[in-house]
Amino acid sequence: MEFRVDERNRGRLTRDGIRIYEAADFAGMHKAGRLAAEILDAVAPLVQVGQTTGALDAEIERMVAEAGATSATIGYKGYQHASCISVNHVVCHGIPGPKVLKDGDVLNIDVTVVVDGWFGDTSRMYVAGKLSRRAERLIQVTHDALFKGIAAVKPGNTFGDIGHAIQTFVEANRMSVVRDFCGHGLGRVFHAPPNVLHYGRPGTGPVLEEGMFFTIEPMVNLGRPETKVLADDWTAVTRDKSLSAQFEHSVGVTATGCELFTLSPAGKFHPTWG
Ligand code: MF3
Ligand code: CO
Ligand code: CO
Repeated sequence: MEFRVDERNRGRLTRDGIRIYEAADFAGMHKAGRLAAEILDAVAPLVQVGQTTGALDAEIERMVAEAGATSATIGYKGYQHASCISVNHVVCHGIPGPKVLKDGDVLNIDVTVVVDGWFGDTSRMYVAGKLSRRAERLIQVTHDALFKGIAAVKPGNTFGDIGHAIQTFVEANRMSVVRDFCGHGLGRVFHAPPNVLHYGRPGTGPVLEEGMFFTIEPMVNLGRPETKVLADDWTAVTRDKSLSAQFEHSVGVTATGCELFTLSPAGKFHPTWG
């Protein structure tokens, strides 16, 4: 592999508190990320009209256990499920339960697993029944926005460059970027510095270095960016009830760009890709 972390950086934290991982650590992240992505692949055929989000989560919990892995979300700050399932105007952190999917519902399923101590965190969009043109456009823009952000990942660029790439693309498409939630460093912990904002100005924020591991997970709304958290203390919704979408990958910075830890082994990831 082409990544090689400068030996002087071993175990180092940057001035912003961002951990620089070693070359050998990429393998652990690939293993954890691959499992999370495989679980999202396997759940795709179960996303059907009439299915409950609770049943999808139960299947995810079963797959995590079957793989001999651990769910990062069960027990995390009191959260009790193996996934977050966010339907329609739910932005993120939707709690799986008795809600029945109906024709045209679009949903994000977010899974984080721990394998040998490494965290793999990924989410993608699904549709129950027929995908509307409006929702398809939102989902496509959100997906492409994530990859605009990923394209900005290389040593010497800044986290502001990533946010700027995402924000300008989303706003050029007359949609809005959620400000209230962000991506995060991860590795041997679930949530670590830095906050990976999905908006920003070029050249601002910490400088990217080889060996940094983090997520990029833009949430995009058809309407305004404001959100509110419901009384359950988890479910975040758009204030204007507009449709919201999100995709998430876990990435590691290499000498020339980045590696994606959570690529779909089945080539899925987008609801129109099967
Ligand atoms: N997986 C989410 C993220 O992308 C975090 C979920 S925390 C939970 O960071 F407790 F809500 F599950
Ligand atoms: Co995340
Ligand atoms: Co996630």
